[in-house]
Amino acid sequence: MNSFGRLFRIEIFGESHGREAGVIVDGCPAGVPLAAEDFLADLGRRKPGAPGTTARREPDAPLVRSGVHNGLTTGAPILVAFENTDVRSEDYAGFRDLPRPGHADLVARRKFGGFHDPRGGGHFSGRITVGLVAAGVVAKKLIRPAAVECALLEAGGSPDIDDAVRAAGEAGDSVGGLLECRVRELPAGLGEPFFDSVESLIGHAVFAIPGVKGVEFGSGFACTRMRGSQANDALLDAGGATETHHSGGADGGITNGNPLVFRVAVKPTPSIARRQLTVDLRTNAPAEIAVRGRHDACIARRMPVIVEAAAAIVLADLHLLGQNIPRIHGRDT
Ligand SMILES: Cc1cc2nc3c(=O)[nH]c(=O)nc-3n(C[C@H](O)[C@H](O)[C@H](O)COP(=O)(O)O)c2cc1C
Repeated sequence: MNSFGRLFRIEIFGESHGREAGVIVDGCPAGVPLAAEDFLADLGRRKPGAPGTTARREPDAPLVRSGVHNGLTTGAPILVAFENTDVRSEDYAGFRDLPRPGHADLVARRKFGGFHDPRGGGHFSGRITVGLVAAGVVAKKLIRPAAVECALLEAGGSPDIDDAVRAAGEAGDSVGGLLECRVRELPAGLGEPFFDSVESLIGHAVFAIPGVKGVEFGSGFACTRMRGSQANDALLDAGGATETHHSGGADGGITNGNPLVFRVAVKPTPSIARRQLTVDLRTNAPAEIAVRGRHDACIARRMPVIVEAAAAIVLADLHLLGQNIPRIHGRDT
């Protein structure tokens, strides 16, 4: 569904070309300083502008409609909305009957019986992540001093991101990307066995981001080629410090006090100018589609701050749920 979290609970809403997109954050403790300006830095990182990103320009001015009074959170739900102003719905008129391969056009039509909003990808658009980033700003405040930092390591398999994106764009094509997210100064003890392990919850939130196709913690899939003697992170002290981080900062689904590290695989943007095979839903006959309009040639470029938000939201929730954290219980474990 569109809501996520237990105590720190978010609900995202909106469509790409609807009136607004945004988020409701419920469960944020009262008394947290929060101003509209606090959102701007992270929102700016999600905005297009770099080469290979869409030409759509939204102001992304946060409208904080509830839950904040005199610059402090009140404990009531926080609603942050963003108006959609730069829409060109006519670019999408053809996709109703000629679904874009790799996008959600066909599955949305089948699941919602044709009642979905197809304009700009509707609720399946990357636009919806604006609310996720806003919730992430609130969550990042709650998890301090922990700091979440995500970066794009490569695009299309190359560390020369500009070159890979440019080459794909010139060919009317798109590229995917590999991101790495690190959380520093995270206390040990976050994560609830069994199903709410920290990896499960971060995986859940990160896989919800449109275009994400893989998440691995620490050495991830490479562990399958190691021996235990290589994969185990040797313990250096009773606090659980380790020099290597093959486990990614979690053991038994619980943070171990070392940096939490995970990588995210993002697929190439589905909408490409090159001709592709699709099906004409009016006739059920094969058809060709070449997607024009404004699209990101590499959606991974805009993803780091979105992944940070997903991680921070999970960690804020786990902080509130935490049972074995010395900081809360005032006892050493
Ligand atoms: C920030 C962001 C921007 C995106 N921009 C585009 C875009 O311009 N064109 C496009 O076809 N898909 C874009 N996507 C990806 C689609 O939303 C996504 O591929 C689609 O919803 C299908 O979901 P899936 O890839 O997770 O299966 C974007 C995603 C994000 C997170």
